Amino acid sequence: AALYAPERGNAQGWDLHDLTDLAAIEAARTPFQTAQWQAAPLTVTPATDGPVRVVVNPAAPADTVGQITEATPDHAARALQDATVWSAPVTERAAILNAAADLYEAHFGELFALLAREAGKTPNDAIAELREAVDFLRYYAAQAHHLTNQARGVFTCISPWNFPLAIFTGQIAAALASGNGVLAKPAESTSLIAHRATQLLHEAGVPFAALQLLPGQGGALGPVLTGSPQVNGVCFTGSTATAQRIQRTMATGTPADAVLIAETGGLNAMIVDSTALPEQAVRDIVASAFQSAGQRCSALRCLYVQEDIADSLLTMLYGAMDQLVLGDPWHHTTDVGPVIDARAQADFAAYIAQARERGAVLKELTAPDTGHFIAPTVIRVSGIAEMEREIFGPVLHVATFKAHQIDAVVDAVNATGYGLTFGLHTRIDSRVEQVSSRIRVGNLYVNRNQIGAIVGSQPFGGEGLSGTGPKAGGPAYLPRFTRSPRIAHPF
Ligand code: NAD
Ligand code: ALA
Repeated sequence: AALYAPERGNAQGWDLHDLTDLAAIEAARTPFQTAQWQAAPLTVTPATDGPVRVVVNPAAPADTVGQITEATPDHAARALQDATVWSAPVTERAAILNAAADLYEAHFGELFALLAREAGKTPNDAIAELREAVDFLRYYAAQAHHLTNQARGVFTCISPWNFPLAIFTGQIAAALASGNGVLAKPAESTSLIAHRATQLLHEAGVPFAALQLLPGQGGALGPVLTGSPQVNGVCFTGSTATAQRIQRTMATGTPADAVLIAETGGLNAMIVDSTALPEQAVRDIVASAFQSAGQRCSALRCLYVQEDIADSLLTMLYGAMDQLVLGDPWHHTTDVGPVIDARAQADFAAYIAQARERGAVLKELTAPDTGHFIAPTVIRVSGIAEMEREIFGPVLHVATFKAHQIDAVVDAVNATGYGLTFGLHTRIDSRVEQVSSRIRVGNLYVNRNQIGAIVGSQPFGGEGLSGTGPKAGGPAYLPRFTRSPRIAHPF
């Protein structure tokens, strides 16, 4: 019973052909537009008197997706008072998480529509995200049977907007499967999908006091949710800077044994040497850099191409980029959707404009006129050291190297301090060994793209500035949400 055997998850896979219930998906476009999506009074401490946030579609900002009443620090403090561990036996917890997975599948069309409209996900990305969320629920439900330790207590789970269903669900499922109580703080821009997912988790049977949703501003809620004595752990995914802030806040108020599980940003590179298959490398570069509009922590940011093949490979890359369809994520042909909001769009546009001014833009596509779009762009750099920060959008940096410089390239990547994903395209076996023994990253991908880790078979997480570990979707993850049993030793 404890085996992880996904029937509809990644093992079998959904694809666009599963979107047969078009009427249901189409119907799901309208309810979100009404005020009935207001507020998140799902919690035992309903946040009905907080500030109202209007959510718009990043591909078409005139389209209001809904609105949500955000929680205030006061609501968060009350939620903490009410929070309890989930003391049901593991068999019951696992059954309820599996029931939630069934409900996610049953509400496929509605969740798909929300992913497209609130987060700008393309059909392929939305399907992959739904699959991943379902896989997390089923995988952690199965893993829970192997736990020997006790729940830690109450976890605050803080998630980013770029995987508003999968990461939101994965964090919560892990904490709940281990018997903890959860306060879930979704990203500001994707609170509606978090709200719907929480409803489904409650409908499946997760008790209200064991799972409370607190949508709201991270900066305002953070001090309570990550710095209070009732918090026994924080599970965070987001930027490195926010993780560091949380770490400092935890030091001021949580118990000394409270844990921080943080999955953060990356400055991810790929090496393509002169023995690589160019067509395969180009396909994987395009997917790694531009799928999800580059809004993946795992995405390729800096491509190193061996000098001898650089001209031909880049010509092929630009040709492949010309085939990309940019636009409304609602259309099944769209490859690249919008970035998350106007601020991200302005930030990337300014970054690209600076590169254009210094003559470093090698290739750029044209973005649609309306919506928060950034066209996939390639920028020349001397090396990864020139990149000062993670550019979390469809911007690929390219550098060249000579054959004898492979170790130096790897050292430069290590020197960034980040260590999330790394790609290598080569047909030299010894080079795989040379690079893999030297590179310090959580996930190294050889002769494939470097995104889309699969729950249960490709545990995902980084080193250094990219995260604390343990890896999500792997066997070491749940034990971190537990502690050794307290044992009374009678004389
Ligand atoms: P972010 O750090 O701005 O926000 C993440 C979450 O933290 C949000 O819910 C936000 O409200 C909350 N937050 C902000 N300030 C806070 C504070 N002081 N205290 C508590 N919570 C606070 O990140 P983002 O822009 O939402 O997401 C993009 C980042 O996430 C990128 O850096 C990306 O690489 C990273 N990411 C990492 C992974 C991974 O698995 N390593 C996966 C997805 C995204
Ligand atoms: N787990 C996600 C990926 O691998 C972030 O792309």
